[in-house]
Amino acid sequence: MEQEKLLEITDLSVRYPGAASPVIHNVSLTLYPGQITCVIGESGCGKSTLFHAIQQLPGRVEITEGTVTYRGRNIRTMKESELRIVRGSGIGVVFQEPGASLDPIRKIHIQFYEALRAHDTGISRAESRKKAAEILKNMEFQDTERILNSCPVQLSGGMNQRVAIALAMALDPKILLADEPTSALDVTVQAQIVEELIRLRDRYGTCILLITHNMGVVAKMADRIAVMYGGRILEYGSRNDVMQNPAHPYTKALLQAIPTLDGKPPVGIPGRKPDIFPARGCAFAPRCTISVNECETCLLSKRMVGDDHWTLCGRMEVQKHERSGS
Ligand SMILES: Nc1ncnc2c1ncn2[C@@H]1O[C@H](COP(=O)(O)OP(=O)(O)OP(=O)(O)O)[C@@H](O)[C@H]1O
Ligand SMILES: [Mg+2]
Repeated sequence: MEQEKLLEITDLSVRYPGAASPVIHNVSLTLYPGQITCVIGESGCGKSTLFHAIQQLPGRVEITEGTVTYRGRNIRTMKESELRIVRGSGIGVVFQEPGASLDPIRKIHIQFYEALRAHDTGISRAESRKKAAEILKNMEFQDTERILNSCPVQLSGGMNQRVAIALAMALDPKILLADEPTSALDVTVQAQIVEELIRLRDRYGTCILLITHNMGVVAKMADRIAVMYGGRILEYGSRNDVMQNPAHPYTKALLQAIPTLDGKPPVGIPGRKPDIFPARGCAFAPRCTISVNECETCLLSKRMVGDDHWTLCGRMEVQKHERSGS
């Protein structure tokens, strides 16, 4: 049986209100139940813009081309009231700063009650508290009563991020969107959050779209990887395909930039990232060691390099053939 497409993003271009040109171009991605998809890319490449476009918060960003469908329905044609339901019980969100989803001086059990009541007006405080305690227990919180009676200002950053994830899970969303959920935390807490997200997927079958610039996080948790640069997804595929057989020079450079344990220094990517993202041509071409003039102006299209593994670059294949003399 074919898997349900929970979220399907097709040829999506997005701009900020008032801007002349889009920030992200022709992005396509499909999310399936139980899969963790990681979008990786350097700061400023358009990851959060993609996140805003999926959420469709009024006035935030404008979709100029393409579609986003949630369980087969185009979110652009949904009424605000329908979108609110999708945002709550369809798509949960977690941000980089736990403070973005939590009120620092409101007790956590009250924040759960407010979130649950927004989607089920009949829920009582006692029912909501029971549900909150159950979620926290399932997420292996040790002292659920103390947490529920605390305000976020009384808890550590890592604990608050775990609470923010629990709150996003309260409505049992089909999809959890997480925008850099670990980057504001120290390394040991980052590992805890990554484990937490993997457990949620295993326990509830939640589909997770995780946005990050940390290849270590991607290596640990991704089922599928989308590599983003200059407003485009340059390569997409399973974790093994992308990490073991990268098909885009930028992916290759990113992988070489990961510090290794054997003491070899990571290889930096020379050059600067672009300030404007071109509508045509490859934004990575000026930094790419195998680019030719044509790369800066050509019309980019997907090239399949494996089963559900594609790249926007044709140069790596050309190089392979040149090297093998065929
Ligand atoms: N509100 C805004 N108005 C106009 N341009 C914006 C706005 N927010 C972001 N941009 C521009 O859009 C581009 C992509 O930004 P975005 O925040 O999506 O990047 P990102 O990949 O999430 O970066 P980071 O890793 O730093 O969070 C950047 O060039 C940025 O300057
Ligand atoms: Mg961002």
